[in-house]
Amino acid sequence: MSFIVAIDGPAGSGKGTITKIICEKLNLINISTGGAYRSVALATLQNNIQINEIEKIVDLLDKINIEFKRENNKDLVYLNGKDVTRRIREKDVTNIVSKVSSIKEVRFKLNELFRKVAKDKKVIMEGRDIGTYVFPNADVKIYLDASLEERAKRRVKQNEELGIHIPYEEIKEDIRKRDENDKNKEIGALKKADDSIYIDTSNMTIEEVTNEIIDIIKNKMT
Ligand code: DC
Repeated sequence: MSFIVAIDGPAGSGKGTITKIICEKLNLINISTGGAYRSVALATLQNNIQINEIEKIVDLLDKINIEFKRENNKDLVYLNGKDVTRRIREKDVTNIVSKVSSIKEVRFKLNELFRKVAKDKKVIMEGRDIGTYVFPNADVKIYLDASLEERAKRRVKQNEELGIHIPYEEIKEDIRKRDENDKNKEIGALKKADDSIYIDTSNMTIEEVTNEIIDIIKNKMT
């Protein structure tokens, strides 16, 4: 029997970090949908396709294989058999991912993938439109948010941990632009579902947010 926890929110709201911890504590499968969109963006770059060559990007979808794997306690994203977890966080991918994820064919294809990998499983899926569009009947729906400044700070730290060095101001501007693009997408826009629980994490510790969500999930599971 499936059990779906949908966690949506903007870049840097804590989705990735929180999801990872909750998965381990509750033994759920972690699916980062942003990782899949980033993989399509990486494939676009690898094939020297321009962001406005939509047909070519759509053709690419049938030629690529995206997988979510868990190895040595780490959640990894594979593109065509290769671990791209770190590569897809780099700037060139980040710069185009929001545009790539605005292409409706890309969204349809990836949504199919997300529904397939979650079938009959207990998962936490994090993204932008999981509670509104991918799994509107999810068992638990959370919308995480935080101020732009706080989110930029977190992203700088997260990048540093991956060995990627991008200055704060640049990250902040990038997140602001991505927020705008993500919120104004024709389909799959970043939006709180009417029935999702809103949590502003700006002044909360990771532990506080995690505990609050775990309580919500446990209540639903019993
Ligand atoms: O969560 P992230 O920063 O890794 O996501 C990368 C991009 O992918 C983000 O700019 C928006 C897009 N995305 C999306 O459109 N829908 C999702 N469900 C997840 C991510």
